[in-house]
Amino acid sequence: MSHPIVVAFTGGSGPGYGRRLVEVLLELQQPVHLTISPAATKVIEHELDISIDLKSFTPELFWPDKQALFSNLHYYHYQDFMTPMASGSFLTRGMVICPCSGATLSAAANGNSRNLIERAAEVHLKESRKLILVQRETPLSLPTIENMRKAKLAGAVILPAMPAWYHGDQSVTGLIDFVVARILDQLNIEHHLIKRWGEGIENGD
Ligand SMILES: Cc1cc2nc3c(=O)[nH]c(=O)nc-3n(C[C@H](O)[C@H](O)[C@H](O)COP(=O)(O)O)c2cc1C
Repeated sequence: MSHPIVVAFTGGSGPGYGRRLVEVLLELQQPVHLTISPAATKVIEHELDISIDLKSFTPELFWPDKQALFSNLHYYHYQDFMTPMASGSFLTRGMVICPCSGATLSAAANGNSRNLIERAAEVHLKESRKLILVQRETPLSLPTIENMRKAKLAGAVILPAMPAWYHGDQSVTGLIDFVVARILDQLNIEHHLIKRWGEGIENGD
């Protein structure tokens, strides 16, 4: 069994990216430790029409047909600092914050760890493990650009939710899968979510 991947949903637009990421990780038999910020619940309600109770999370609301995969999914409350991901001694394959709000980016860049998500981000940086920040904002303020630079210098991967349009599937699910595919690439997880450049798409195949 491989070490788990920590995933956090924060209050950026685009929780559909995070939902698809966890679904694909579970389908690829990857254990996931999930946590969700209160602001994320507001965006999730607005964009995905799903109401979440952070104290008793029910994964069926997100992935109604995936119950068979839930044994690999472990949910933790965002204020619970007693969880494994809060400690560097707990080994992981990395952490993905998807979507990553500007507020959580700032916390990660500046080492402010006031909740479990921010603490887990700090742990991944201090342990020199992969920390992938899937930011979604446009246009970008100077403080956000500076926080992205700081986080990058500290070792994080800045992976904006910025789908490309060249891979042949411009449906919403295709554009989501493009971003999820790039996250999986960063985690060194093999997948066949999208065709790669050099596999025929450059010729229109
Ligand atoms: C519908 C909605 C969409 C939002 N979209 C974004 C966004 O795309 N990027 C962002 O940085 N913040 C966005 N926000 C604001 C964040 O949710 C807010 O800054 C929050 O404090 C982030 O907290 P968190 O990092 O603890 O989740 C949005 C808020 C709402 C209600």
